[in-house]
Amino acid sequence: MNAIIKSEKKHFPVLLNELINIISPLYGGTFIDCTFGNGGYSQEILKHQSNKVISIDRDESVLKIVNKFEAKYKNRFYFKQLKFSQLNKLNLKPTDLKGIIFDLGYSLNQIQDKSKGLSFNSDSKLNMRMGLNEFSAHEVINKLEYEDLYKIIKFFGDEQKAKFISRKIIVKRQSQKINTQDLVKIIDDVKKYRYTRIHNSTKTFQAIRIFVNNEISELIYGLIESFKLIPLGGIIAVVTFHSIEDKIVKFFFKNYSERKNLSRYLPNLNNKKILFTLKNKKPILPSSKEIKINPPSRSAKLRYAIKIKDNDDFKDFVEKFKIYLDIENIRKKL
Ligand SMILES: C[S@@+](CC[C@H](N)C(=O)[O-])C[C@H]1O[C@@H](n2cnc3c(N)ncnc32)[C@H](O)[C@@H]1O
Repeated sequence: MNAIIKSEKKHFPVLLNELINIISPLYGGTFIDCTFGNGGYSQEILKHQSNKVISIDRDESVLKIVNKFEAKYKNRFYFKQLKFSQLNKLNLKPTDLKGIIFDLGYSLNQIQDKSKGLSFNSDSKLNMRMGLNEFSAHEVINKLEYEDLYKIIKFFGDEQKAKFISRKIIVKRQSQKINTQDLVKIIDDVKKYRYTRIHNSTKTFQAIRIFVNNEISELIYGLIESFKLIPLGGIIAVVTFHSIEDKIVKFFFKNYSERKNLSRYLPNLNNKKILFTLKNKKPILPSSKEIKINPPSRSAKLRYAIKIKDNDDFKDFVEKFKIYLDIENIRKKL
């Protein structure tokens, strides 16, 4: 993820205190941590003896930390390697489930793992798989046709030079397979900027990573699955790091929560499904102190909602983000 102190070379959970403040009134029950990572959130919840944590993560490299947790928090900690969209495979429905949390993105360990190729500095074959994937960035860059590459880089990266970058990828790969550094060079050649705030490759790499890991459908179906699991009164809390993620979470919570009428004399024309109570309409952001010690945390946004009604039809939610899901479906060509 972005939530790291690079100088200290250790993972630093973002918005941790804010998240704990939100869920602590519900303590004395079970919480599902959908993004175990380095276990930062799980550990903080487990500090309270009356809490239990069920964790998932798609990356098997977290198992080293999981083993330590299992030894330390006997009978209070359980882990399964799963993706958000597979939450139903947990085969657990604790009666005292109080909250489900997501800290999206990737961890410092994942960036530092050169074989994963998530960083622009990696000199290996393109990869970007976080775990439980069907294909890698190598296949995306070396196999997909121009139009598909363009859509991925444009829509998932919001990259203005998506056309030029995609075209150059197609030309370059006629003579050789493209690896991580070739891609960085292609983007540098197209963008030509030297002194920008963000690295020339940031947007394209974000786009390819989202596509390789199906991050959009993972989030959409992860939210739907967590809604099905959480009982009435339980909380779903999500920390996002980029605008597409935040748009999805914001829509999910706001579209299904009560909106006050402009006038109490007007009829309520708003016949939408009210499934959540929102305590905070606006996202919770990191304090200036947190941003100072951990600058990448500046893009983090925490949103949460309390479930107040059951529902089993989320067609309108899925439909709303069809444009992104259609792009993810390009994977069928690989
Ligand atoms: C930002 S890290 C979580 C850090 C954690 N909160 C901590 O404090 O250590 C995000 C983790 O979520 C995992 N992840 C991302 N997408 C996932 C998905 N769709 N399903 C399961 N795990 C996922 C990543 O593998 C990574 O380990």
